[in-house]
Amino acid sequence: MTAPARPFEHDGIAFGCDYNPEQWTTDVWDEDIRLMGEAGVDLVAVNIFGWSHIEPREGEYDFRALDDIIGRLHAAGIRVNLGTGTASPPAWLARRHPEILPMAEDGTRRFPGGRQAWCPSSPVFRAAALRLVEAVAGRYGDHPAVALWHVSNELGCHNALCHCDESAAAFRRWLEARYVTLDALNAAWGTAFWSQTYGEWDEILPPRATISTRNPGQMLDFHRFSSDELLAYYRAEADAIRPLSTVPITTNFMVTAHIENLDYWSWAGDMDIVANDHYLDHRLADPNAELAFAADLSRGLGGGAPWILMEHSTGAVNWQPLNKPKTPGEIIRNSLTHVARGADGVCFFQWRASVQGSEKFHSAMLPHAGTDSAVWREVVELGGIIGRIGELAGSRVEAQVALVFSWESWWATQTESRPSQSLGYLDQVHAAYGALHALGLTVDVVAPGADLSVYSLVVVPGLHLIRQSEATVLTDWIAAGGSAVVTFYSGIVDQDDRVWTGGYTGPLRDALGVRVEEFAPVAAGETLRLSDGATSTLWSERSHVTTAVAEASFVDGPSAGSPAITRNAWGRGTAWYVATLLEADALRALLGRVAAEAGVRPPAAVRGGDGALEIVRRRGADASYLFVVNHGDAAAVAEASGFELITGMPVAGDVDVPGGAVRIIREEAAA
Ligand code: GLA
Repeated sequence: MTAPARPFEHDGIAFGCDYNPEQWTTDVWDEDIRLMGEAGVDLVAVNIFGWSHIEPREGEYDFRALDDIIGRLHAAGIRVNLGTGTASPPAWLARRHPEILPMAEDGTRRFPGGRQAWCPSSPVFRAAALRLVEAVAGRYGDHPAVALWHVSNELGCHNALCHCDESAAAFRRWLEARYVTLDALNAAWGTAFWSQTYGEWDEILPPRATISTRNPGQMLDFHRFSSDELLAYYRAEADAIRPLSTVPITTNFMVTAHIENLDYWSWAGDMDIVANDHYLDHRLADPNAELAFAADLSRGLGGGAPWILMEHSTGAVNWQPLNKPKTPGEIIRNSLTHVARGADGVCFFQWRASVQGSEKFHSAMLPHAGTDSAVWREVVELGGIIGRIGELAGSRVEAQVALVFSWESWWATQTESRPSQSLGYLDQVHAAYGALHALGLTVDVVAPGADLSVYSLVVVPGLHLIRQSEATVLTDWIAAGGSAVVTFYSGIVDQDDRVWTGGYTGPLRDALGVRVEEFAPVAAGETLRLSDGATSTLWSERSHVTTAVAEASFVDGPSAGSPAITRNAWGRGTAWYVATLLEADALRALLGRVAAEAGVRPPAAVRGGDGALEIVRRRGADASYLFVVNHGDAAAVAEASGFELITGMPVAGDVDVPGGAVRIIREEAAA
């Protein structure tokens, strides 16, 4: 990745929040700004949902309140992360132009009354939004408080896939640009199947609800189109800002568990700094591992450059089936885990808890209970820590391991007809990442086809869709001496969702030394036994080794006798293949063994901690910083020497990390 056109510069690690002053009277603003000072907040996002306030009627702007709040923040020394205000259209726009409203796949429109009710392809919406952006950027583009532009908000959170006629026309234009001829499109989508051949471009629709399953090639391209369409929208806002302001521009990504619609690999290069929103997902087995994964992926999107955690929570969210508060110390541990993994900014949604609206039960920095609360005290404590660790801003995370992640594989895996409805792409990613996380290994998340030369170990979970060129990068890297672990359902289809024939794993087959003939998934709850004593679930396959050695085979189940774990010498390297979902302990043991053989180690030796530690090193120009986060109750000791930034104490040899604590050691030069 090239250096951002406009670097985001900040004194230390930014500490901030979304702030929605529209919800409060000006006497509350005074208290807010005073308390922001008490907490050490220095970057505040405003005007994210500002549209109906600053343009109450079409073409009539009223910036008095926004002028006032930006002026007050500036006077208090707080920098502004300025929303363009377009995240949610005002009621007058939807009333006058109902055609901007998004359409679900069943052809029904979604009404206003929530948020983000706009079609990404609507020219009417875009024109209205860009008029607003020009007005906002014209007014505040060179305001000294403005440090960052916050385009819209979580683009595609609700409206990524629109099926209206406007979207259909835009989809056709996108397809014509991609395929040029209908013959090429028909070939790519395999429309010979079920008499789906198109004779005119106008016959093509978005994948609206059908009476049977839909064309998977069409659905894959609709995902690509929808991601590109919102990126084009982002670019239009950024293009409107650029002539009016020299301030860096970004938008907040949603690199979290369940948001799959945007291929951020194609977006990231447009951001002056990558920004991500992350919320712990308590539906997952290991929310902390998923947090670490999301942070590593956010860093990966920027090619390793520092990024900003634009939103997370001080406690419960309001959108999971059960919304849990954080445990004591968890706000600090979560925040510093993001920093350990490359964040140079820690911001929350939101500053003051709303008392009305859909998010009134969402936590905030200043909770309903006020300042006499554990949340507020921990926020203030965190602000103090952020203030003390500013020197590490700009440093970069060191990793020996890469994990290959692909939104295209996510889309292609979760097509309507698949070998098992229980097969989920993220489940495999989380299983592999979770094992590496439990081993204390630092992981860079990379795109398929990325340069792997700096890594010692590459893990490829369920990379269902793979181009020949991407496979070649991986297999050449293995041949040159690398160690790779590939897991099942990798190498199944090409970029058009066309099956690689001759035995799965297609273009990875020779390097893996295994030929898979048939998938044999197993029912939920069914456990498979392997010859090495391990167990597994979900998946087996009927295969045989060609050049690989079977390290374990299926003892029972539909693939009894077939290899389950194989190892193949490929050139000067080693290619492992795992044909089932290993139980967590077995996967950890396997990856631990491969990592040790490849010379991969955790960043520091630790004792104790009961497996609940995260250890990451960031390296700067003048010093390196070792982070040790103790998520558990058991005390731990890390081997490090230097100066501990949180306690402000020199450390030599052993650093105590009590249960629940975080330690950040500026290491002596020898590290
Ligand atoms: C997202 C949005 C915020 C808010 C939070 C709640 O991150 O950007 O406006 O809705 O979710 O968790």
